[in-house]
Amino acid sequence: MNKTQTALRLKSEFNDLKRTSASVADETKFPLEKINKILSGKFTVNLLFEFLEVFSKTYPVDISDLIIEKKDTVNGILFYPRNKSKKNTRFFKRLNSKKRFSEYYEYRDTAKSHLSFFYPEWIAQTRHVKDSNPNNPDVIYNHGHFLHQLNLFVGPVNFYYEIKNKKYCIEMNTGDSSYISPYIKHSFTSRDKNQKAYIVAVTTGSNLKRNQKEIRKFGSSFLQKSFSDLKKSDNFIFSIIKKSLKNEFINEEKFKILLGKQLSKKIYENKSIENLTVKELLKISEILKIPVGELLGEDDKDNPVVNKFISKSNFDYFPSEQKKKFKIFRLASSNKYKDLKGFIIEVLSKSNKSFIQFSTNLYLINFSSQPVELKWIFDKKIYTKKIMPDDSIYIEPYVKFTFNKLNGNPMLYLVSCETCMDSKLLREMSVISEPLRFINDAKQWFDGK
Ligand SMILES: [Fe+2]
Repeated sequence: MNKTQTALRLKSEFNDLKRTSASVADETKFPLEKINKILSGKFTVNLLFEFLEVFSKTYPVDISDLIIEKKDTVNGILFYPRNKSKKNTRFFKRLNSKKRFSEYYEYRDTAKSHLSFFYPEWIAQTRHVKDSNPNNPDVIYNHGHFLHQLNLFVGPVNFYYEIKNKKYCIEMNTGDSSYISPYIKHSFTSRDKNQKAYIVAVTTGSNLKRNQKEIRKFGSSFLQKSFSDLKKSDNFIFSIIKKSLKNEFINEEKFKILLGKQLSKKIYENKSIENLTVKELLKISEILKIPVGELLGEDDKDNPVVNKFISKSNFDYFPSEQKKKFKIFRLASSNKYKDLKGFIIEVLSKSNKSFIQFSTNLYLINFSSQPVELKWIFDKKIYTKKIMPDDSIYIEPYVKFTFNKLNGNPMLYLVSCETCMDSKLLREMSVISEPLRFINDAKQWFDGK
């Protein structure tokens, strides 16, 4: 547990509830010196839980909002060695065509940090097939799952999925990739007993997972109602307008008057906002009192599964055509979840001064047979680490890093996914006069008792 942050968090809750430690002690009958000990950050976990139980019974607070975990990274990264992966190997069995259970997958965990919602797994296909028939009785599909999934294929892997009761099989090879939407049934097998065949499946939970506590508390009717207008109209913009009008006590008639004849005609006749100017969009957002970005919902054009085959000529040099330090191959992506992105990095240089920096959560695995040197900067210090084949890493946002080859050209699979800091949150923070106080404020909100 991060005791300093937990103490600061508790202090901020006292401030938000307009209480001092003395008034909390008075109202909870919890000894003041013990409360002050907790607020100093020098407490035992038992004492904290003893207090939180009493505190949550007295005030409308959620205990799980008040505990801040310590980061599980060291100097900005979480390194997961291949032998640790190998140690947690577990085999899963599924029925075969003879209706007997036999091995299907060999699963290994790879670098997983609780700072992100990545669940990255190394999965070898131990069920072999002789064809690419999606209805092969030896192929057992799963039921689909909540997490979005981005796969890198290594070796001769058959990828199966089912959309609207139709089954598909795609023959994949090293460097190919696929994106799978939540709850799409899928499966993987190997086409060749004698070759290594595995996938690196990075599943991730998106903003739904991040916000699941609030959604779970309100329950399924809240979730259902939030989506019902969307489903009915198939028109994102009108469902947002309808919802926002209700939240503003404005009826449609009044809305049309506020828009003015011309703009109203433009929206309601075209049933679209595609031809609107930025000025017009801003006017709508002003009337509805919602950020203009909320009006820009995109159509859901992509299939629930997106496959991409690697092409040796389809890459960009990084950092530039002149400085060829890395080849960057872009992997499968979907407009269903644009924040989930995948790349292959081929390392071309032995001494590299070009650093890579993302503002997102990053997962990396060395899927080649060559070791590579990772160099990164954290708190102005430079660190290096040798990354062996099958070693994996989680990298915190804004950490600058680079790779140097040792021999051959190592290949890394990199997956990027958003943090909580989306544009809406950034805008919210930008209007606060002292945004850093949000997590560092140790003071009471007034001087006095
Ligand atoms: Fe999956």
